[in-house]
Amino acid sequence: RVAILDFGSQYTRLITRRLRDLGAFGLVYGPGATAKEIGGPDLKGVILSGGPNSVMEDGAPDLDPAILALGVPILGICYGQQLLARNLGGVIHRSSRREYGKAMIRVLDPESLLFRGLETELQVWMSHGDHVEQAPAGFAITSHTRGVPVAAMEDRARRIYCIQFHPEVTHTQHGSKVLMNFLHVCGMKLDWNTGQFIEEKTRAIRKQVGTGRVVLGLSGGVDSSVAAVLLHKAIGKQLTCVFVDTGVMRKDEMAQVQEAFAPYDMTVKWVDARQAFLGALEGVSDPEQKRKIIGRTFIEVFDREAGQVQADFLAQGTLYPDVIESSGVGGAVLVKSHHNVGGLPDVMKLKLVEPLRELFKDEVRRAGLALGLPEDMVWRHPFPGPGLAVRIPGCVTAERVAILQNADAIFIEELKASGWYRNTSQCFAVLLPVQTVGIMGDERTYENMCALRAVTSEDFMTADWARLPHELLEKVAQRIVNEVKGINRVVFDITSKPPATIEYE
Ligand code: XMP
Repeated sequence: RVAILDFGSQYTRLITRRLRDLGAFGLVYGPGATAKEIGGPDLKGVILSGGPNSVMEDGAPDLDPAILALGVPILGICYGQQLLARNLGGVIHRSSRREYGKAMIRVLDPESLLFRGLETELQVWMSHGDHVEQAPAGFAITSHTRGVPVAAMEDRARRIYCIQFHPEVTHTQHGSKVLMNFLHVCGMKLDWNTGQFIEEKTRAIRKQVGTGRVVLGLSGGVDSSVAAVLLHKAIGKQLTCVFVDTGVMRKDEMAQVQEAFAPYDMTVKWVDARQAFLGALEGVSDPEQKRKIIGRTFIEVFDREAGQVQADFLAQGTLYPDVIESSGVGGAVLVKSHHNVGGLPDVMKLKLVEPLRELFKDEVRRAGLALGLPEDMVWRHPFPGPGLAVRIPGCVTAERVAILQNADAIFIEELKASGWYRNTSQCFAVLLPVQTVGIMGDERTYENMCALRAVTSEDFMTADWARLPHELLEKVAQRIVNEVKGINRVVFDITSKPPATIEYE
C-alpha cells in the first residue's frame, strides 16, 4: 500500500487512479493523517499531493514529522514538495505570477532513480504559485525549468523525492513512468488487481461489520449491485437488500433485477411501492417538487423496511467520484437536487459501510464481472433516483409512465441490437405531453411526442449528443409510433450539456 496524503489538489484522485493502473494499491488519507494512522507493515511508500494553499500561509496544512521517520520512500508533488522543502530547511519563494499549464523541464541528474529511462527534456504540467528556490541540505536538484530552479529534488539517502510538476495528469509526458519509478524505489510488487481488491475488501467488511446486520438499498444500478454482491460474498446472510419498485422505473425493471440476482442466495426484500409513489405524485408538475416527493417517499418506504431488518449498518454503493463531488468544496449553484450521497435520513443513525468508496466506475464494473454479475447489469447506463418522473415534464400518471416505459424499452432494445448501447453513456426516451397532429391509415391522430436522448460523457458533468446513425433512429421512431399507443411523433435531441442538462427536469 502507498499512503496518499491529500492536501486538497483537484488531481489527488488521479494519483490513486494512476497507481492502480500500474498495479499498486494507493489509499487516500486526510492532510492531518499521522504516522500512526498511515503506518503498518503493508506501508511501502507515501505520496504527498498538491494543494491549493501556500505553505507560507498561517494555518496551511502541515505534515506529521513522524511520517519522515517511518523509513519508507516519500514522494512530494507540488504543494508536497514545497512542504517538505520548508520543513527540512529549504527556501520557498512566492511567485508574483502563477505558473499554470505546460512547461519543459530539463533533467539534470542521470543518476536520479525517479527519472530513470526518460529523456532529458520532458514536457510536464505545472500548476503552482510558490516554488522551491533553494533545496534543503542533503538534497540534489534533479531538474529545473526556465522559470523554476528546483523542478525536482531528491535526498537519496533518506529516499525523499520531490517534484513541482504533476505526474498524475495526462498532459505530463511519461508521468506514469515517473510514478512507476517511484513505486520501484518503494519496492512495490505491482500485482494489485481486481481479485485482490475483492479479497482485501471482503476481509475489511468482515472486520468492520463483525456479527452486525447490514441493510442495503438495491436499485439495480451498477454501484448498488456490485456493492450488494461484494457484501454478500463477505457476510452472506447478515446482509439484507431492499429493492423498492417506485413505479417510475424502466419497463420490467424489478423482474430484470430479480433475474440477475437469482443465482445468488441473497436476502432481498422486493417492495412494490408503486401506489405510494404515484399517489404522492398526483397532480404535481414542478420538477423540484417531484424530486422531493420521490426522495421523501423513498425514505419512508426504505426506513420502514430497514427498520424490520434491525440493521446496525447501512451499506451504500458510493464511488470515489461521489465522495469528491459531495465534499462540498466551493459554492456550486444548485441546479438539481441529486440525492445519491447523504440522501438518507439522520433518523436511521446507522453506521455506514461503503465498500466501493475508493473505486472509479470502470473498476467497479471490473469488480462486478469478477463477482459474477451479468455483463448486461455491469454495463447499464445510469438511471436517476426520481426515474421516469423527470422524463415526463408535467404531471406523472400511471398511463404516461406506461407509454414512456414502452417507448424507452424499444429504444434501448434497438441500441443494444445495433451495438450502440456500449458506445454511449446514457440513452433514454422522454415523453413530452404535447399533443401534435398525425395521420395513421386514414385516421387523424392527436397524440404525445417522444424525444430520444442519447449522450456520451466522461463524468456526466458535461455531455455531447451521440451521433446515432439515421437508419437506427428511423427504425426506433417507426417502431415507437407503430407499437406504442399514445405517441405519434418522435424527435431526436441534439443539445449538448451545457447548455441543456441530460435529463429533462
Ligand atoms: P443532469 O440532468 O443534471 O444529469 O445533466 C446528470 C446525471 O445525473 C443523473 N441525475 C440524477 N440522479 N437523482 C439521481 O440519482 C436525481 O435527481 C438526478 N437528476 C439527474 C442523470 O441521469 C445523469 O446521469
